[in-house]
Amino acid sequence: MADDGLIPKTPSEAQYSAAKEAYSVAEDQGEVFASDDPYEIFVDWFQFAKRFEPNDTNAMSVATVDSTGLPNVRILLLKDVSDRGFSFYSNSESTKGLELAANPQAALCFHWKTVRRQVRIRGPVSELSAEECDAYFAERARGSQIGAWASFQSRPIENRELLDQRIADYEEIYRDRDVPRPDNWKGWIVHPQEIEFWINRPYRLHERLVFEQEADGWKQTYLYP
Ligand SMILES: Cc1cc2nc3c(=O)[nH]c(=O)nc-3n(C[C@H](O)[C@H](O)[C@H](O)COP(=O)(O)O)c2cc1C
Repeated sequence: MADDGLIPKTPSEAQYSAAKEAYSVAEDQGEVFASDDPYEIFVDWFQFAKRFEPNDTNAMSVATVDSTGLPNVRILLLKDVSDRGFSFYSNSESTKGLELAANPQAALCFHWKTVRRQVRIRGPVSELSAEECDAYFAERARGSQIGAWASFQSRPIENRELLDQRIADYEEIYRDRDVPRPDNWKGWIVHPQEIEFWINRPYRLHERLVFEQEADGWKQTYLYP
């Protein structure tokens, strides 16, 4: 499959058939919308993706907007999913933390390349309780706990040595005792108003099913690809 440019051209008919073998994992996925509950479908898709995408299956794009309305996006790790929503952890004084404080809404996007599926989620965001944050912080590796104290996430740093020095300082401060959670290390939960499932089909004729939260439950709509 010769390709001269950086970005592959739209696949030709021949490329599709050559690629079919490699994509067989995506071609043979059985029932893909096996529930009327989008959380159940999400868990089902996540478990499926995990078998083929072991590295950071829980990585998702998290979009927020800044004070001018300009979108911002970065990858974060999903840490929990329940019928309350989708949660993640970060620094409340980071760029995303400040954006979420000013405009507590977000969009999430998972793309599991190997199985060729995408899930999009949008909705208002709230902060997790201090107890939930404490419980998750306590589970983290000690190095990550120290790092949370040492890093002024998203702020300028003059050189790497400054960070190394701050890490050494906090290691000294917390020598021989548990590392408490910094006040600015927090969790957020996205309460979905919309969850869209997308699965690759040949010739870009993909399947899309969107769930919208309504007063009496989830409304389902199929969309043109
Ligand atoms: C695979 C991956 C996982 C990441 N997970 C997190 C995370 O869970 N929490 C976090 O604060 N940053 C995480 N990051 C770093 C963020 O993408 C980002 O650089 C950082 O949070 C600062 O974003 P901000 O300046 O928009 O606030 C991750 C990056 C990658 C590539």
